Amino acid sequence: MTKVAIIGAGPCGLSMLRSFQQAEKKGEKIPEIVCFDKQENWGGLWNYSWRTGSDQYGDPVPNSMYRYLWSNGPKECLEFADYSFDEHFGYPIPSFPPREVLYDYILGRVKKGNLKDKIRFNNSVTNVTYNGNNFEITSLDKKNNKFSKDVFDYVVVASGHFSVPFIPEYPGMKSFPGRILHSHDFRDAEEFRGKNVIVLGSSYSAEDVALQCHKYGAKSVTIGYRHNPMGFKWPNGMKEVFHLDRLEGSKAIFKDGHEQEADAVILCTGYLHHFPFLSEDLKLKTGNRLYPPKLYKGVVWQNNHKLLYLGMQDQFHTFNMFDCQAWFARDVVMGKIKIPNNSEIEKDINKWVSMEEKLENPDQMIDFQTEYTKELHDLSDYPKIDFELIRKTFKEWEHHKVENIMTYRNKSFSSPVTGSVAPIHHTAWEVAMDDSLKTFLNKSKK
Ligand SMILES: Cc1cc2nc3c(=O)[nH]c(=O)nc-3n(C[C@H](O)[C@H](O)[C@H](O)COP(=O)(O)OP(=O)(O)OC[C@H]3O[C@@H](n4cnc5c(N)ncnc54)[C@H](O)[C@@H]3O)c2cc1C
Ligand SMILES: NC(=O)c1ccc[n+]([C@@H]2O[C@H](COP(=O)([O-])OP(=O)(O)OC[C@H]3O[C@@H](n4cnc5c(N)ncnc54)[C@H](OP(=O)(O)O)[C@@H]3O)[C@@H](O)[C@H]2O)c1
Repeated sequence: MTKVAIIGAGPCGLSMLRSFQQAEKKGEKIPEIVCFDKQENWGGLWNYSWRTGSDQYGDPVPNSMYRYLWSNGPKECLEFADYSFDEHFGYPIPSFPPREVLYDYILGRVKKGNLKDKIRFNNSVTNVTYNGNNFEITSLDKKNNKFSKDVFDYVVVASGHFSVPFIPEYPGMKSFPGRILHSHDFRDAEEFRGKNVIVLGSSYSAEDVALQCHKYGAKSVTIGYRHNPMGFKWPNGMKEVFHLDRLEGSKAIFKDGHEQEADAVILCTGYLHHFPFLSEDLKLKTGNRLYPPKLYKGVVWQNNHKLLYLGMQDQFHTFNMFDCQAWFARDVVMGKIKIPNNSEIEKDINKWVSMEEKLENPDQMIDFQTEYTKELHDLSDYPKIDFELIRKTFKEWEHHKVENIMTYRNKSFSSPVTGSVAPIHHTAWEVAMDDSLKTFLNKSKK
C-alpha cells in the first residue's frame, strides 16, 4: 500500500487529510497516511500559544499569532467550498472574525470522522531523505524523547512558512534600554499601553501590530518602512516614516531625519522559509513570494514528483487555495493526475514566475493568485466556489483599507459558497476589545 507522510497539521496539513477523507467517502481506496505535528494539538498557527522561544521540550515554538488577532481579510475569501461558515455556525456571521472563531471553523470539518487518529502530535520531523525509491523520515516523539524512523512513498511538506522569524540588526540595538522583539514573539498589545512603540516593516504584520498597539493604548506608534510606505491614513498617535537608521540610547533615528523616543521596537520584518529537516536536494529555497520557483502548479517539487509542498506562497488566498492544492496533490498521489515531462514542467513554472515578476500592485497580485487558484481548482473535483466573487471581494477590501484603515473590518460581504450576506458586527472593530468567540457570536449584543 502507498504510504504518505504529511508534515504539519495546520490548515494545509488538515486540507490534505480532508482531501483523502473525501475520496474515501466516494469509495476510493486511499493510501496509508501519517501526519506529524510538533505541537500538542492541531490547527497550526491558529492554535494560539502564550509561549515564545522554546517549548517545554526545548523545541522552537512555531506559533506567531497573538491575542486580539482578527482576520485581516474577509472570511468570505477564505471559505471552504465543502464546508461553509453557515454550515459550521448555523447562521451567517460577520465578515472579519477574531482568531478563536476562525480556529473553531477550521477544525469544524476535520472533527467529523477519525482524522485526528492519523496525527502524531508532539512529534517533530527532524530529518527527511530520499534514497531514489522512497523517503526515510526521522521524527522525535518529544514527550518520550524517542526518535523513530519510517519509510514513505510520498511526502507532503505542510509545515508553514510564518514560524521562523527574520531578525535584522540595526546599530544601537545592543545598548537600547527598552524591549526589542520580533512580531513572531508579540503576544499581547496590552504590554505596550502608555509606551512609545517603534514598528519596523511595511507589510501585514507591521500594519496589524501597529494598529493593535494603538488600539490598546500605546502612547505613540511610529512605523519605519524600508522600501515603500503602506501609506494608509493613520489615526492620531500613529505615523509612518522612512527606514530606521540607528538607535541612540532610547532614541530611534530614521533616515529621513525623524527622531522618536522609544520604549520598544517591534520587528515586523517577515519570516524565513526554513526547512532544516529536509535534505538539500529536497529543500525549497525561496523568499515570501506569490510563485516560489521549482514547484509545478505551486505544489510538486520539480526535481522529485513524490515530494509535494502546500501553502508555500505568499498569501492573499488562504484556506480554499490550500484546499485546491491539497485536492490536486491527492490526485497526484492517487495517480489521477499525470505529471507532464520535464520540459513542460519547466515551461509551466517559467510562465507563472515571469507573470509574477511583472506584477505591480495589489489588484494585479489578487488577479494573479485568483487565476492560479482557479487553474488548480479545475484540475480536481474540489467543489464549486465563486472565485469571481472572491476576486471582487478582495479588491473591495483593498479599497476599503485605503479609505479607512480603522474601519475596513466593519464591512460585510457575501459568501462565495452559499450566497448569504454577512451581518454587520455588533461592535465596531476599533472599540471591540474582547475577541472571544462567545462575545463575537453573542447575537443579543447590539
Ligand atoms: C500573525 C499571522 C496572522 C495571520 N492571519 C491570517 C488571517 O487573518 N487570515 C488568513 O487567512 N491567514 C492568516 N495568516 C496566514 C497563515 O499562514 C495561514 O492562515 C495558515 O496558518 C497557513 O497554514 P499552514 O498549514 O501552511 O501553516 P501553519 O499554520 O504554520 O501550520 C504548520 C504546522 O506545521 C507544524 N510543523 C512545522 N514544522 C514541523 C516539523 N518539523 N515537524 C512536525 N510538525 C511541524 C507546526 O507545528 C504547525 O502546526 C496569518 C499568519 C500569521 C503569521
Ligand atoms: N490577521 C492579521 O491581522 C495578520 C496580522 C499579521 C500578519 N498576518 C499575516 O502574516 C503573514 C506574514 O506577514 P509579515 O508582514 O509578517 O511578513 P511579510 O509579508 O513577508 O513582510 C515582511 C516585511 O518585512 C520588511 N522587512 C524585511 N527586512 C526588513 C528590514 N531589515 N528593515 C525593515 N523592514 C524589513 C519587508 O519590507 P520590504 O517590503 O521593504 O522588503 C516587509 O514589509 C501574512 O500572510 C499576513 O497576512 C495577518
